[in-house]
Amino acid sequence: MPTIDSILKETRQFPPSEDFRQHATISGMNSYKGLCEQADNQYLPYWEGLARELITWKKPFTRVLDDSNAPFFKWFDDGVLNVSYNCLDRHLAKHADKTAIIFEADDGTVTRASYAELHRRVCQFANGLRSLGIAKGQRVIIYMPMSIEAVIAMQACARIGAIHSVVFGGFSAKSVQERIVDAGAVAVITANEGMRGGKAVPLKAVVDDAYGLGNCSSVKHTIVYQRTPSTPNQWQEDRDIWWHKLVEGQADSCEPEWMGAEDPLFILYTSGSTGKPKGIQHSSAGYLLGAMNSFRWVFDIKPNDVFWCTADVGWITGHSYVCYGPLSMAATQVIFEGVPTYPDAHRFWQMIERHKVSIFYTAPTAIRSLIKLGSDFPRQHDLSSLRLLGTVGEPINPEAWIWYHEVVGKGRCPIVDTWWQTETGSIMIAPLPGVVATKPGSCTLPLPGVMADIVDESGETVEPGKGGMLVIKKPFPSLVRTIWGDPERFKKTYFPEEFKGQYYLAGDSAHRDEHGYFWIMGRIDDVLNVSGHRLGTMEIESALVANSMVAEAAVVGRPHEIKGEAVVAFVVLKGPRPDGEEARKTVEQLKSWVAQEIGKIAQPDDIRFGDNLPKTRSGKIMRRLLRAIARGEEITQDTSTLENPAILQQLQEPAA
Ligand code: WTA
Repeated sequence: MPTIDSILKETRQFPPSEDFRQHATISGMNSYKGLCEQADNQYLPYWEGLARELITWKKPFTRVLDDSNAPFFKWFDDGVLNVSYNCLDRHLAKHADKTAIIFEADDGTVTRASYAELHRRVCQFANGLRSLGIAKGQRVIIYMPMSIEAVIAMQACARIGAIHSVVFGGFSAKSVQERIVDAGAVAVITANEGMRGGKAVPLKAVVDDAYGLGNCSSVKHTIVYQRTPSTPNQWQEDRDIWWHKLVEGQADSCEPEWMGAEDPLFILYTSGSTGKPKGIQHSSAGYLLGAMNSFRWVFDIKPNDVFWCTADVGWITGHSYVCYGPLSMAATQVIFEGVPTYPDAHRFWQMIERHKVSIFYTAPTAIRSLIKLGSDFPRQHDLSSLRLLGTVGEPINPEAWIWYHEVVGKGRCPIVDTWWQTETGSIMIAPLPGVVATKPGSCTLPLPGVMADIVDESGETVEPGKGGMLVIKKPFPSLVRTIWGDPERFKKTYFPEEFKGQYYLAGDSAHRDEHGYFWIMGRIDDVLNVSGHRLGTMEIESALVANSMVAEAAVVGRPHEIKGEAVVAFVVLKGPRPDGEEARKTVEQLKSWVAQEIGKIAQPDDIRFGDNLPKTRSGKIMRRLLRAIARGEEITQDTSTLENPAILQQLQEPAA
């Protein structure tokens, strides 16, 4: 793969400054190695120690790991706790007045919530949910804009033991409906509207459309946070209730539901290579431990830090490093409703200056789009509060890394490139900032206790410089527990037979350099990474085929300057192959169709029409060929097994 070569040329190294190292929570290679040795030699006592140190238990556990039903592992399973108690109540003695959240709305209005206030509001909302009869183990969909209320909704579910499933506010009615049905949700928490870039996003209307698609009779309540003055078009009295009405008169304390360590905390849907999205199910204690420990070590959090993670709560990053990590460690964080370029490209830098952000965590795609707008924007702001930068979601190209380091971090701030997944729940591979000399484009070394390796098909470790499959060889507390409603798929996908069901298969390819640093090369399955978001090619294909005009579709990725990867679709229509104005119109129709079926992020950048798709005689679509066509590369592969070689030329022509 060509990416290996280009990456291997990257030899620049950036050790932490002496000052940073001195003050870091984990400082120096010897401390890191000590922790790794402890984890290597005494794996279970290592995790046990962290779980006792970090989590406040209602009833402490006596068992660390139960692997009798592998790969359905259980951690600390006779322990009893409540995650929201760990995020709020236990801070009240010392940090009641500390700011938990600085919220900046799209229009620039700033609202703050202290730990005491957040606690009070979570309790009231939790009492409200209980008054509707929502209880432990029931599923609640959260479809909210970025807001203090979104965090309150998640925390309130955790408080009463309801399992939340947050759906990203950019997803379509169809996506919301599928998740309601799959989870069997009893309630949906939403807002009348969200505000992004000066425009209103009609969230409640999308939820109504989702209900309109049918099979949503499990939902008994829609709770609507009033973000803007507008009134929803539809309102069903026996089902819909305003948030402010629900909390009216509710007590400001609320006894938490005491949960078993293994009781599910949430389900988060993510794309897989085939079929419908997978409901990634996380536990209470193991997940919380992963979020907490990675937050304190990777972000080196200190009492006075102001942390800002730009991820939406609809993604795992927003779960672990907006909702659960920062609050469980009593940190102060910024939450932002809007977009980086509204009202103009000063926004992010202005916010860092205004709120004196010291730790900034964002995605390579955001960095690349900000680079494109020019270095003048960050240069006009006082960014001296920053001391640490982070990235997540996709490999960061060295050029973007260097820009981030120089223009944003002024060469002072370590960059933590954090590799992890919805499934791992928390950061797995990342430079501890007071320890590891970073290299642009590498996520460097696993955290202590993470037994990451790179193996070939037979499970053997590959030598340095050789690409292979990224695996984690031992179960760890924050790992996904199962796929909601589909344990067989869980087993097959993540603990495949080829590795005797022993290794967690991440689905990424990677290689290691001579210093043991990990370099992620991309996915090994048919999953695209568009703007740091995982999209299954099958999902987009199914959406296209669901359109009445479409007979067949194949989707591949193509490198994109800002988004990382762009979606390219090859489509066979039921009618004749269109051209000219008609082709242009059909492309537009299909693009909005995909936006409606899945969401705007899944929209193809490019749609090509053919009378057929390139297939082998056995009927398999030749995806590698399509990838080459999508990239505009010359076709060097053997096409002799093709049914109909003439279609290649058709597919090479952009439709519009
Ligand atoms: C990719 C996001 C390279 C990877 C937390 C992974 C990365 C998928 C990095 C998970 C990184 C995430 N470097 N690639 N630092 N972080 N990825 O579930 O392919 O949305 O498997 O979780 O993103 O995406 P997910």
